Amino acid sequence: MKGRVIKAGAAGIREAAAAIRRGGVVAFPTETVYGLGADGLNPEACARIFEIKGRPRFDPLILHESSAARARKLFSRVPAAAERLMKRFWPGPLTLVLPRAALVPDIVTAGLGTVAVRVPAGKHALALIRAAGRPVAAPSANRFGRLSPTTAAHVRKQLGDGPDLILDGGRARIGVESTIIAFEKGRPVLLRPGGLPLEEIEETAGPVLRAAAGGKRPQAPGCLKRHYAPLARLKIIAPGEKNSGDPAAAYLAFSRRPCGKFRAVKVLSRAGDLREAAASLFGALHALERTGARLIYVEKVPPHGLGRAIMDRLKRAAA
Ligand code: TXA
Ligand code: MG
Repeated sequence: MKGRVIKAGAAGIREAAAAIRRGGVVAFPTETVYGLGADGLNPEACARIFEIKGRPRFDPLILHESSAARARKLFSRVPAAAERLMKRFWPGPLTLVLPRAALVPDIVTAGLGTVAVRVPAGKHALALIRAAGRPVAAPSANRFGRLSPTTAAHVRKQLGDGPDLILDGGRARIGVESTIIAFEKGRPVLLRPGGLPLEEIEETAGPVLRAAAGGKRPQAPGCLKRHYAPLARLKIIAPGEKNSGDPAAAYLAFSRRPCGKFRAVKVLSRAGDLREAAASLFGALHALERTGARLIYVEKVPPHGLGRAIMDRLKRAAA
């Protein structure tokens, strides 16, 4: 039966790895969000990922490997700054975009000369990639343009029996996707803020250039303006800006409950901690979406550390 949810224990991992080796598609947990994985060297298997997600073919996939040594084989050239980043942050929530090796199929890169690769830190993800014995191509396991999944239930709800299997490893620890870094003349360029704070990257690799929308710097093809969208309309406000209440609207607060009556309220982190807020972000939006609210007020969060990734996702969801 397709779409079956199984525990990410030893037996579950074995079954999922066998499915990947046979050309199947399996949803699995990583430390950032759940991914929809297939054999990254098998073009037909990768094609199924695009079909299940309803994702346009111009949007390339990330390849996941189990070690930096294996990941390096997917690139044809690795600048010194990239070497330093791999050493310090892999396994972890960092994706590197570099010139591709010849063995990487065109469908993975959407025909680009570069490939995106990461070594995830989630233990289930690592065990699965090791058991599959090949790079695993995986975008986030949501329908194209919808909220990213941080639990197996989110995946099941959006993708139904599309995947051959859904591995359940509990809630994704970080809760937002990886930070994506490309290189321009050996210097790092931020393509997507994510689970690894920019400040930590700059400590290791020096100043990071920003890919401005509409500018000459490349952006990730998948970083479309409207993305990560819940079914409701999102309105971004300053904390405390809306305190008269709106019984029809839902409210996503950063650290403090708003005054006034709302249909539903979620608080991302009572302690005002950005890591905790990132980990609860998509789950809170999924929950507010389920209340049927047509409008969700969302509070701005501080724009540093993981706050950058949170604001990026909120702005895209509100666009
Ligand atoms: O945390 C993550 O990165 C999760 C987990 C599953 O690993 N994956 C994920 O994949 O977020 P996805 O496909 O939802 O987002 C990957 C982004 C897309 O915006 C895509 O356009 C961009 O990476 N990308 C992939 N290859 C690229 C390339 N060669 N050049 C520029 N951008 C690329
Ligand atoms: Mg995605």
